[in-house]
Parts: sequence; structure tokens; C-alpha cells
Amino acid sequence: MEQLDWKNLPFGYIKTDYNVRCTYKDGKWGKLEVSTSEYIDIHIAATGLHYGQEAFEGLKAYGGKDGKIRLFRWEENAKRMRSSAEGIKMAVVPVELFKEAMLKVIQLNRKFVPPYGSGATLYIRPLLFGSGAEVGVKPSSEYTFIIFVTPVGPYFKEGIKPVNMLICRDVDRAAPLGTGIYKVGGNYAASMRAIIAARDGGYANTIFLDAKEKKYIDECGPANFFGIKDNTYITPKSESILNSITNMSLLEIAKSLGMKTERRPVLVEELSSFVEAGACGTAAIISPIAKIFDPEKNKVYEYCKDGQPGPESIKLYNKLVAIQYGDEPDTFGWITVID
Ligand SMILES: Cc1ncc(COP(=O)(O)O)c(C=O)c1O
Repeated sequence: MEQLDWKNLPFGYIKTDYNVRCTYKDGKWGKLEVSTSEYIDIHIAATGLHYGQEAFEGLKAYGGKDGKIRLFRWEENAKRMRSSAEGIKMAVVPVELFKEAMLKVIQLNRKFVPPYGSGATLYIRPLLFGSGAEVGVKPSSEYTFIIFVTPVGPYFKEGIKPVNMLICRDVDRAAPLGTGIYKVGGNYAASMRAIIAARDGGYANTIFLDAKEKKYIDECGPANFFGIKDNTYITPKSESILNSITNMSLLEIAKSLGMKTERRPVLVEELSSFVEAGACGTAAIISPIAKIFDPEKNKVYEYCKDGQPGPESIKLYNKLVAIQYGDEPDTFGWITVID
């Protein structure tokens, strides 16, 4: 392999040597297989193609100073994939199979784990879809589970940087009793129009509101939202958002740093009372928010007036990243070390 330019990797797809696959048929999972192909042979009537029976996950492997590879809370990704599968009536991937596949694909592609200090990581993408043929709307009786990995550069090349967000009122990502709590492809398809409109307008992403009343903050594109005021980390509670593992972790870190935490509905008007705001997820960990524009109300909410991320966001970010890379002891029991 040509040596990759670890410091300048994009946040995108780069081919690695292997991926792993497993199929579910006749009511049971088969043997894990290793493939060198980036392609899959798929039935033209597969339910994953027609009826959106598809779910995925996203997590990272971090190369540490000690040369060890660390995984962050992978059990939560396995659990969330289980919940997504149940949510759209797919076969569930057992945690043991998830683990075996993940460890195998990392070991096979070990040389693609970016070295400590490059800011890059190995992104792990588990994928599950209905691969059996159906024409009527019903769950498939066959499923394919794949995990591929790809090295990715840091989300922010020049370091953590505040971004602008646009409030979206004309597109809903998910309905209250819909599939917003699952990590299924359909939610991302539903969000595409809004995300592109925000990017075309020069915003990093869109903030979705609750679909029913348009009064509360739901999510920031593919990331959860948080606001900070009065030494309190506040994040929306909603029945249509994806439960972010980064957000769950930041809530615990905030508590450990002596902050109060609240998970509750957050009114749009409350945006004016926050001293810091941000989006959080595996990709960027924290994207501090500089400005939020509400086009309908012609109102701008401003944070980071000096162009710098707020002090609490920086503290939270540094602590979480230090745990992920193994720079600080993992007092929460979140890390799995691979030798
Ligand atoms: C819709 C959505 N919300 C939130 C998140 C953040 O979740 P996590 O912190 O588990 O990456 C993601 C990314 O997975 C997402 O796609």
C-alpha cells in the first residue's frame, strides 16, 4: 500500500483491503465471511432497495500513543443497531456477531488505523439490510450484515471551529411516532432536502424542529443539539431524535466536571438564553455553534462572538477526546482496547 497522507485524509471513503459479511437465511445467521470486494451482488427485489429495510451504525477506532487501538462504547452501537432492526422489522444482529465482525475487520485492516497525533481515525460502518426478494410490502426473510472500515481525517482540519446553523421549518426529518429514534436510511433520505438547502445557503447544517408543533429543537442534521447556561448542559428530549452515544457521554462528562445536566424539551425561544451551543456526534464530537438563523422569525441567535468555541464546550470536547485516544484514564469504563 502506498503510505497514506494521514494528516490530510478527507472525511470520506477510502478503499481498504477487506470487509466482512454475514447473511441471515432460514431463520438463522450463517458464517462470517471475509471479502476483498467493495461491491455486493443484490437481488433486484430486495426489501432494502424497495422498502427501506436498512439500518447502519457509525463508530471509530482510535490509534493511541501506546500503539494500541481503542474502541469507544461499541456495545452502545450494537444495542442501537438491534433497536433499529427491531424498529423496522429486520433480523437482529446478535451482540456477539457484531463484536466478532467488528474485531475481525479491524484486525484485517490494521494498517489503515491512522497513527496517534494525525487527528485521523478508522471509521467503522456496520450495515444491515433486507436482501431477500419481496414484492408486497412486508419484511424480508433474508438479511445481509456487512462491516466495512475506512480511514477518515478529522472533521475540522484546522481544529475545532464554530459553525452556523439554519433552522428548518419546511422539511421534517422524522415524525414523533415514526422512525426518528432509529438509525435507518429513510431518515437520512428525508433530511437531504433540508441539509442541501442549508449548505446552499452557506450553513454547516440544519436544525430540525419537532414535527408536530414546530416549537421545540429536535436535532442538528446528523448530530444531537446541546445548549449551555447557568453551568448546566441542556439537551433536547424528544421521541423523534436519534439517541447519540456522544451526547450520552457528554452528559456524563458534564456531571463529572461539576455541571448540572438536563434532558428535556427545549423551546426554540430558549436559544436566546444559552451562552454556548453545539452539535455533537461521532464525526466531529462537538461542533460549536457560532450562529443560528431562524428564517421565519428573521432572528439570529449568536454564540462565540469572538469566533472561538466557548470554554465549557472546549472542556467537554478535550475530556472526551482524551478518553477516546487513551490520553486520560477511562474512569467511565467506555473503552475497549485492542492489542
Ligand atoms: C441523526 C443523528 N443524530 C445524532 C447522531 C450522533 O450520534 P452518535 O453520537 O452516536 O454518533 C447521528 C450520528 O450517528 C445521527 O445520524
